[in-house]
Amino acid sequence: MAKQQFQSIRGMYDLLPGQTARYDAVAEAFAMASRNSGYGRIEPPLVEDTAVFVRAVGQETDVVSKEMYTFADRSNKSITLRPEATAGVVRAFIEHGMTSLPQPVKLYYQGPMFRYDRPQAGRQRQFFQYGVEVFGEAAPSIDAQVIALGIRFFRQVGLKNISLQINSIGDEVCRPKYKTALVEYLQGHAKHLGEDDKARLETNPMRILDSKDPKTKAIIEDAPQLLNFLCEDCQKHFSGVLEYLDLLGVRYELNPQLVRGLDYYSRTVFEYYGEREGSQASLGGGGRYDALVELLGGPETPAVGFALGAERVLLELEAANISSTVSHDKRVYVASLGEPARLAAFGLIEALLDSNIAASGAVDRDGIGSQLERANKLGVKYAIIIGQKEVQEGTILLRNMATGAQESVGLNNIVDELGRRFAL
Ligand code: HAM
Repeated sequence: MAKQQFQSIRGMYDLLPGQTARYDAVAEAFAMASRNSGYGRIEPPLVEDTAVFVRAVGQETDVVSKEMYTFADRSNKSITLRPEATAGVVRAFIEHGMTSLPQPVKLYYQGPMFRYDRPQAGRQRQFFQYGVEVFGEAAPSIDAQVIALGIRFFRQVGLKNISLQINSIGDEVCRPKYKTALVEYLQGHAKHLGEDDKARLETNPMRILDSKDPKTKAIIEDAPQLLNFLCEDCQKHFSGVLEYLDLLGVRYELNPQLVRGLDYYSRTVFEYYGEREGSQASLGGGGRYDALVELLGGPETPAVGFALGAERVLLELEAANISSTVSHDKRVYVASLGEPARLAAFGLIEALLDSNIAASGAVDRDGIGSQLERANKLGVKYAIIIGQKEVQEGTILLRNMATGAQESVGLNNIVDELGRRFAL
């Protein structure tokens, strides 16, 4: 019988040790930024009742109508792999009575999402998101704080040139009026719209605003603008958000065409962009969703949040040549030659690990040259070299991998010595 080999599902990838290290480092930076701002971690299940997403995200959105992994479980219940986390977090917020906690309730999460999207760089069928949600606070200052948290995270991982696009899409008072005006305008130009956009005219006209179709784009340029239709409350809220962003020194670009692909938003919507070009450039996005908690059966609760795409953040870091989010600084590699040295190295690695210094080493066979090459590839700061002479003298050679400088240190002192150097 021919041997069968299997591959991972299209658009879903194995994360191998080099990649998980990068993922983990960035995830930890996000967790730290969130925790510092008073967010607690929540992790809802990867699957929910299909109705949770249909209700929250909206039947007519691409995410629900084209991209969900929906199937019947063994008791014939329709369940869906989460395409995003906000719906599940809101479901959990209500289910666990978090409405009666002191507000605002601030939550963060990080984990895989699933969308049956067309795979390409920065677009996968299983991808990771880092996100935050804040419940119970309607003030515009919270929108600004949430937005600033994202910018701070980017800065902390080394991405200094992030641009922020922002818009207000109004609320249930003013948006319907705008929709009517927009549809009226677009109907007048219907025969020049792209095919997909013609269909959206019936189902989800606001999405036509961020169409990528060049024919549609030309028409959109002269379309009525939502900002001119905002009711007084929405206008006040939006100018409040912008004022707070000014106060925090967060720069933004007003984008009247920014509408986002999920139906639950109201008022503030925003997206983060890096320096890479292309349609997959949005590193993350979010906004207010003041009606969603109620829509999913909870009490009226204002809310705001965002999610970032981990793969896109990592691509951005790569493009900016930033690798230092992964710290190899506290790592050493122990190289040894000959059987007695190998035993000394074996013991030393364990002693270093006991002192919380990340240490690894070749167990045998290779010459010193190729062991150092390996140390170099691992990106460690120091290599420790033990040969026959060192074993007899009870010393080791400590090699600074960046400069190549080597010095002799007593075997009994090296754990303390490295502890001191790494503490500096
Ligand atoms: P979203 O804009 O659908 O928002 O996704 C947020 C981010 O996830 C995107 O900007 C992108 O970086 C990443 N992303 C989305 N789809 C893919 C994909 N197929 N492959 C790789 N990355 C992807 C939300 O999901 C909302 N839940 C955000 C939010 C939280 N709004 C309020 N709170």
